[in-house]
Amino acid sequence: KKNVYILGIESSCDDTSAAVFCNDKVLSNIVATQQVHKEYGGVVPELASRAHQQHIVPVIDQALKKAKINKNDLSAIAYTRGPGLMGSLLVGSSFAKSLSLALSIPLIEVNHMQAHLLAHFINDEETETPKFPFLGVTISGGHTQIVKVKDYFQMEVIGETLDDAIGEAFDKCGKMLNLPYPAGPEIDKLSKFGDPFKFEFAKPKVKGLDFSFSGLKTSVLYFLQKQAKENPNFISENIEDLCASFQRKVVDILMSKLTKAVKETGINQVAIGGGVSANSGIRKALLEKRETSSWNVFIPKFEYCTDNAAMIGIVGYLKYSKNQFTDLATASKARYSI
Ligand code: KG4
Ligand code: ZN
Repeated sequence: KKNVYILGIESSCDDTSAAVFCNDKVLSNIVATQQVHKEYGGVVPELASRAHQQHIVPVIDQALKKAKINKNDLSAIAYTRGPGLMGSLLVGSSFAKSLSLALSIPLIEVNHMQAHLLAHFINDEETETPKFPFLGVTISGGHTQIVKVKDYFQMEVIGETLDDAIGEAFDKCGKMLNLPYPAGPEIDKLSKFGDPFKFEFAKPKVKGLDFSFSGLKTSVLYFLQKQAKENPNFISENIEDLCASFQRKVVDILMSKLTKAVKETGINQVAIGGGVSANSGIRKALLEKRETSSWNVFIPKFEYCTDNAAMIGIVGYLKYSKNQFTDLATASKARYSI
């Protein structure tokens, strides 16, 4: 059987990424993370599209070089159609379309949220692959979703956030604690030295399998404002306990919804993705579940959890195998359901 070489391109938010695949194996996966957003404490859409414009050619060049593949050997190009920031999506899609036209090879559109879940099918000989049906859980700075994955392209969202994403909750609360953006990794680090039961923040009451994190944010804000009146140094004197207590609450919110989802669906295969799956508290809770219950837990390599083009490439390969190609006239979609 002839080898299939796919170039994957991801540009939906603030990472410009390109990956080259040989069948279901990654030959290269290059990510340029934009630094310009740091000083604003969040992604600035206009700056994101400009940075994609600067990064896209060198990133793709590097991906091809590292894979030792000539562009003329590519079988197809897969790119992120949505969801994401329109200005960012357009940079990747326009490039993908032009290159597919220039090389006369097929174009494949990819749904970014499906890609986060199908990243589990990257063949890397290290991590196990879940079997259908499984519960896909995408937790990042932009997403919080529980998805029933019945087959590669048969997915149903059964729970999602009504307001902030879980990573956003880390980042926004981190900002209140004077931590640099993105604050998730900082909170995680400092938590290790703190008492997770020192402070109690409100756990939001949300129906079903949905999430809400804005209430938690408000609860932290009011608590800090009250404390600051009595002690202006309250945050710096208690930073580790504050981080540990906040992280415990977030882990608690996530795990109780996941437990509910497993119970309601009868599916005990839980596959995690997204940047927040790096969180040590979440990992510990999941691994504990794997030890003490019937759960099977799947966590891809970290480079396939955060936004990356390898997850776009694997979907490209899966769609290529089914001849699911895309017309050049296909428009990008800022909102694009799974
Ligand atoms: O997937 P990702 O790289 O980008 C998107 O948001 O799509 O995720 C980034 C998010 C940020 O909110 C960051 O604070 C969070 O993941 N994050 C963490 C950790 N590492 C990254 N949150 C908690 N604990 C971590 N160790
Ligand atoms: Zn993402």
